[in-house]
Amino acid sequence: MKVLVIGSGGREHCLVWEISKSKLVDKIYAIPGNAGMEKLAECLSMDISSSNFDDILKFVEDKKIDLTVVGPETPLVNGIVDNFKSRGFKIFGPDRKASMLEGSKVFTKELLQKYNIPTPDGIFFKKEDYEDAVYFLKKKGEDKFPVVIKADGLAAGKGVIIAENKEQAIEAVKDCFVRNKFGGSGDRIIIEDFLSGFEVSLLCLCDGSNITPMILAQDYKKIYEGDKGKNTGGMGSYSPVPLVNKGIYEKILSKIMHPAYNALIKEDIRYQGVLYGGLIIADNEPYLLEYNCRFGDPETQAILPRLKEDLVPLLIGCVDGSLGKKKLIWDTNKCVCVVIASNGYPESSSSGDIIEGLDSLNKSDDIDIFHAGTKKSNGNIVTNGGRVLGVVSKADSFKECRQKVYSAIENIKFNGKQYRRDIALRAEGMDQNEL
Ligand SMILES: Nc1ncnc2c1ncn2[C@@H]1O[C@H](COP(=O)(O)OP(=O)(O)O)[C@@H](O)[C@H]1O
Ligand SMILES: [Mg+2]
Repeated sequence: MKVLVIGSGGREHCLVWEISKSKLVDKIYAIPGNAGMEKLAECLSMDISSSNFDDILKFVEDKKIDLTVVGPETPLVNGIVDNFKSRGFKIFGPDRKASMLEGSKVFTKELLQKYNIPTPDGIFFKKEDYEDAVYFLKKKGEDKFPVVIKADGLAAGKGVIIAENKEQAIEAVKDCFVRNKFGGSGDRIIIEDFLSGFEVSLLCLCDGSNITPMILAQDYKKIYEGDKGKNTGGMGSYSPVPLVNKGIYEKILSKIMHPAYNALIKEDIRYQGVLYGGLIIADNEPYLLEYNCRFGDPETQAILPRLKEDLVPLLIGCVDGSLGKKKLIWDTNKCVCVVIASNGYPESSSSGDIIEGLDSLNKSDDIDIFHAGTKKSNGNIVTNGGRVLGVVSKADSFKECRQKVYSAIENIKFNGKQYRRDIALRAEGMDQNEL
C-alpha cells in the first residue's frame, strides 16, 4: 500500500512513524512533511492551506496512492475529503459538513444545547449585534466574571479569550467585531460561562455509525510552567490520565461522546475520522468545551506510541465504514511528550538555528523524537519555526518517563531552546490508574 500523510508537524511525524510500522504499507509520502520524516517518507512541497486541492489530487492519481491521512484542520474544513471522495480516492478525515464541529463553535454549541449534552452555558452574538453584546456584558454582575469569549471559526488556537472582568470582555468583543482580529472567524461569537476544573482530551475513531474511544491524554497549552503565560499550540502531553477515575470516564462516554455522536447521526451528519473531545471536569462532572475534527497535537505523540495494534486497518475501517464497535489494545505503560520550542515562541519564532545532539538520541530505544518545526540546511537540521521537536518516552511509571525525556532534552542543543519542566509532574506517583 502507498499512504500519503498531509501536514508538517509533530502530529504528522508521529502518524508517519506509526504508519511506517504497518505490514500493509510499502511506501509513505508526506505533503509537505518536515526534516524528521524524511527517513520514513518522501516529502513533497505543496500548498495545503488553500481550498484548491488539484495539485494534491493529481499527485494521488499519478502515484496511485491507496490512502491519504489528513493531519491539520484547515484542509478538512476546506473540504479536502469531499474533493477526494468525489474522485473515488480513499481519505481519512471528516468531510466539510462534519468538520463544522471544529470549523464553527456556534454550530457545535447549538447541537450540544439541542440534545442536552453537558457544555458550559453560552449565548451567541452576530457582528451586527455588537451593541447588544456590549449591553449584555455591561449589565452582567461583576461577580459573574470571568467569562469566556469565543470566536466562532478557526483561529489557530487564538480565538478564545478568558476575560477576568467587564473591561476585558468588552475589549474581546471589540477584537472580534470591530478590530476584525480573527477575520470572518470572528463574525459570530459565543459568550460562555467560565468553569473551573481540569482538562482532558478524548480522541475517538469514528466510522460513520460507530465511535471507538482511544485513550485519554492531557496537554499543556500555556508557554510557562504552572500554566502561566500565553497559549501555544501545546508544550507537552501525557497519557493515560490518572486524574480521571472510572466514574468520570463512564460519564464522559455516556453523557457526552456517545449522545453527541448519535445526535450527529440524527442530524444526518456522517462523521468519519478522529473526533477529538476537549473536556473540562468540574466537581467530578465532565463538560464538553470543544470538538476538534482531527488528531490533537501534541496529544497524538503521547497516544499512538501506546497503541498495540496496526493503525492502518483502523484508519481504513473509519474510511470504509467498517470499523464497528472495536476495543482497541493499548500498552499498559505511561507515555510523556515534552515539546521543545524556539526562542520567542509563541509571540515570534526564530529559525535557522542548528540543532545538535539528535543523532546520538535516535539510536536509543527509549526515546522517540518527533519533528515539528525543522528543516535541512547545508547538511544540518535547523530550526524552522515555533515548536521544533517533541521528545517522547514510554516507561512503567510517569517518573521514569519524565527522567528519560528530560535527560534526553539535555543532550539536544540549539540557540534559545525553551521547554516546560513540569510536563506530567502532576501524574507522578499516580501510576496505578489505568485510564
Ligand atoms: N467555558 C470555559 N471555562 C473555562 N475555560 C475555558 C472555557 N472554554 C475554553 N476554556 C479554556 O480555553 C482553552 C481554549 O478553548 P477551546 O474551546 O478549546 O478552543 P480552541 O482550542 O479552539 O482555542 C481551553 O483549553 C480552556 O483552557
Ligand atoms: Mg482547544
